This record gives sequence, structure tokens and C-alpha cells, in this order.
Amino acid sequence: MMILKTLSIIKPDAVKKGVSGNIISMFESNGFNIVAMKKIHLSKKQAEEFYKEHSARPFYGDLCDFMCSGPVIVQVLERENSIKANRDLMGATNPSESDNGTIRKMYGDSIDNNAVHGSDSEESANREISFFFSDLEIC
Ligand code: RTP
Ligand code: MG
Repeated sequence: MMILKTLSIIKPDAVKKGVSGNIISMFESNGFNIVAMKKIHLSKKQAEEFYKEHSARPFYGDLCDFMCSGPVIVQVLERENSIKANRDLMGATNPSESDNGTIRKMYGDSIDNNAVHGSDSEESANREISFFFSDLEIC
């Protein structure tokens, strides 16, 4: 197994609900090292660019509106096998299908308001990390 980096976003719904501390605590207690973190409010253009792989999907407009509806917390997480480990900890995209104990089961309200984002491959992790952070901001 390799130590890999992945990008996590605590989405506007979870930040508004005041559960970002609980989510960060879940990352730490599951062995993730937080090597970069900041709170930002995305513009519509930035949200569209970030999720551009979904631009042809019917939910793209709503997804981008949602992602710029309030501040988010973006983090670079490091751990052995971090991309899969984070996706497992997040749970299924739709919180109603997520396993008990996952972040989306605990804090997601719907498929649109599902609390967290996590990179889905090494290639996306690299793109997403450099979308938000310069090398100097990663400890
Ligand atoms: P994310 O990118 O946010 O980590 O979520 P994911 O990999 O689990 O899901 P993805 O397929 O990448 O979709 C991105 C976000 O779009 C919304 N979505 N809505 N209505 C729908 O069928 C639908 N499918 C996806 C979700 O909010 C999902 O997190
Ligand atoms: Mg995705």
C-alpha cells in the first residue's frame, strides 16, 4: 500500500449545520493526516470548473448552484490507500443508501445535499488538489 493524498470538501450543507468539526474528527480518528485545509466560498464559475467532468449530466446545474451556496472546507488528506479509504468513510452518494457510521449517513440529507466530496481516483486527486492548493500550502 502507498501513502496517497486525496482531496476532501466539506460541502455547504454540512458547514451550515455546524458539523464540520465532527467530520474533521472522523478523518483524524480514521487515520487521515490533514496536510492542508482552508475555508472558501466558491464562485459559480469555480464550481463549474471543479465539476466540469459532470457538465453533460442533468444534475450539473443544481450541483454547481449548491456548491457555491455557502462556504466549504477543502482539505488534503493523507493516508495509506487514502482515496478508497475516504470514499468508504464518506459512504454512498445517496445518504439513504449509505452504510451506518459513514459521514453521509450521519450528516447527509439527500443525494444533492450529501455533506462531503472525495476524489475518486489518483488522477482526479492530483487535479483537484492543485485546483485548490499550491505546493507551498501542503505540509
Ligand atoms: P462527489 O463527487 O461529490 O464526491 O460525489 P460522488 O463521487 O459520490 O458522486 P458523483 O457521481 O461524482 O456526483 C457528484 C455529485 O452530484 C450529485 N449527484 N446527483 N441526482 C443525481 O442522480 C445525482 N447524481 C450525483 C451528488 O451530490 C454527488 O455528490
Ligand atoms: Mg465524484
